[in-house]
Amino acid sequence: MGYPNVRLRRVRGNAILREMLGEHRLSARDLVQPLFVKEGISRPAPIPSMPGQFQWPVNGIAGEAKRLRALGVPAVILFGIPVKKDPTGKAASAANGSVQRAVKILKKACPDLLVITDVCLCEYTSHGHCGHVDGGKVLNDASVKALAQAALSHAESGADVVAPSDMMDGRVAAIRGLLDKKGFEDLPLISYSVKYASGFYAPFRDAAESAPRFGDRATYQMDPANASEALREAQTDLEEGADMLLVKPALGYGDIVCRIREKFSCPVGCYSVSGEYAMIKAAAERGWLDEKRMVLETHLSMKRAGASFIVTYWAGDLARWLSGKASR
Ligand code: PBG
Repeated sequence: MGYPNVRLRRVRGNAILREMLGEHRLSARDLVQPLFVKEGISRPAPIPSMPGQFQWPVNGIAGEAKRLRALGVPAVILFGIPVKKDPTGKAASAANGSVQRAVKILKKACPDLLVITDVCLCEYTSHGHCGHVDGGKVLNDASVKALAQAALSHAESGADVVAPSDMMDGRVAAIRGLLDKKGFEDLPLISYSVKYASGFYAPFRDAAESAPRFGDRATYQMDPANASEALREAQTDLEEGADMLLVKPALGYGDIVCRIREKFSCPVGCYSVSGEYAMIKAAAERGWLDEKRMVLETHLSMKRAGASFIVTYWAGDLARWLSGKASR
């Protein structure tokens, strides 16, 4: 008897077979590009810790959106940066705020682009927390009311999907309730259900000018030690009416995506966050890693974990790299 009759390497040795038998594929259709829109600037401002990413003037956003759409990116998610911040983050629901204006511009210039809006207060509050604050404490229920108003203002501007990212309890029900009451019962909601208190968000806080001025976000974002708690977060958000869930960060949290998918079989996306971007960019700049190869590999691993969609700063690059090629 010759050794062994099972040789898993047989199919690996053939490039065509390997491509044909790939169990998971990346596609531009899966991708969402985050865009930062800032009031009061007239030119795109590069974000130093995120090379290749910019804060865009509200009026200058259409060109970038058209470029992304032409590359095959189907969706963007908008973050707004106001000129004036205050303790309750009023600008978050201003009818003529940065996100609200950008949505209108985008839906006109690029009607076939899906426009998702991030719903949070941290970019708008003077203290940088994702909710209202009293005596150093982040208040849950008052924040939820303000978040619902922000989501409504995005809907009224024409957003296709709203995505609350604040991690207050009960915000999905509050947003869903207000949207339904105002005639937006068909507007889908992505909940950032499982958002960990992560060191990977640091470059984003430069980009969105949203770092907390005191304390940290550990009283509302999840402890990276926990997985069962992630299932409870997912469950409550689904019960409150979330249509899709989002796990964040992506790298290092594939197990969470996988477990949510197995338990709830609902659409789950993941957000490849700013620190994941900065890490690979920095290593690539030094010639230590091959950027394209790393990005294809990390994003494929997100699909393998079960992500139906991926929010990523590489959406445009990935769409370009994947064009004319089925996958990987
Ligand atoms: C909070 C929010 C954060 C990100 C998206 N929405 C970060 C935070 O908690 O400060 C992070 C995204 C990234 O790092 O790319 N509204």
